[in-house]
Amino acid sequence: MTNVLIVYASQFGNTEKMAKAMEQTLLESSEIKCQLKKAETVTETDFINADAIILGSPVKMGSIDWQLKKMIDTVMGSLWVANKLVGKVGGTFASGGGFGKGGAGAEITFTSLANVLMEMGIIYVPLPKNTQGYKFGGIQWGAYGVSANEDMQPQTLMENQLEVCRIHAQNIARVAKTINGQNLFQCELEN
Ligand SMILES: Cc1cc2nc3c(=O)[nH]c(=O)nc-3n(C[C@H](O)[C@H](O)[C@H](O)COP(=O)(O)O)c2cc1C
Repeated sequence: MTNVLIVYASQFGNTEKMAKAMEQTLLESSEIKCQLKKAETVTETDFINADAIILGSPVKMGSIDWQLKKMIDTVMGSLWVANKLVGKVGGTFASGGGFGKGGAGAEITFTSLANVLMEMGIIYVPLPKNTQGYKFGGIQWGAYGVSANEDMQPQTLMENQLEVCRIHAQNIARVAKTINGQNLFQCELEN
């Protein structure tokens, strides 16, 4: 059984919709156990029990949502000190308004999230550019949902953006299943 933990923050429901699309597709497999947790409720034990960890954030003022960042600095921070997440598999997703069509902080959000996983010693799963639907909901760091139009009016996430979420979650779970808890690094894995 591969245990996947999806942790996210969401103020208006867009990032949550992406997280739920990921959860839904993973639960279709009898070989995957998936836990969906908001940043405020996730525990150290949830992380320790996971084979794969997926972090999702809205883009806020060009960076990570504060509730997710608080969780990273507290819950994940303790796990980082104790090397508890080394060798696990991880990935990221985000949702933004995309104002200005110049990135609007999506890159900074993704690179910050990716950096957190790498700080933990987690094996980071990217999103290949030939993924189906990539041009609508992809960026190399993971699934990206754009929730506003050119006039900054809210728009519903497109189905093909949610499909990218599903594919990305399946990729991450597949990598975790393949690694199957093996220690691929020259260091001791903690339990
Ligand atoms: C305070 C605040 C700051 C935001 N900053 C950005 C930003 O810098 N770049 C961006 O693309 N979108 C920004 N947005 C838009 C959100 O990222 C976008 O609406 C996202 O889909 C919200 O996710 P949620 O529905 O999960 O809360 C901001 C929204 C709020 C409320």
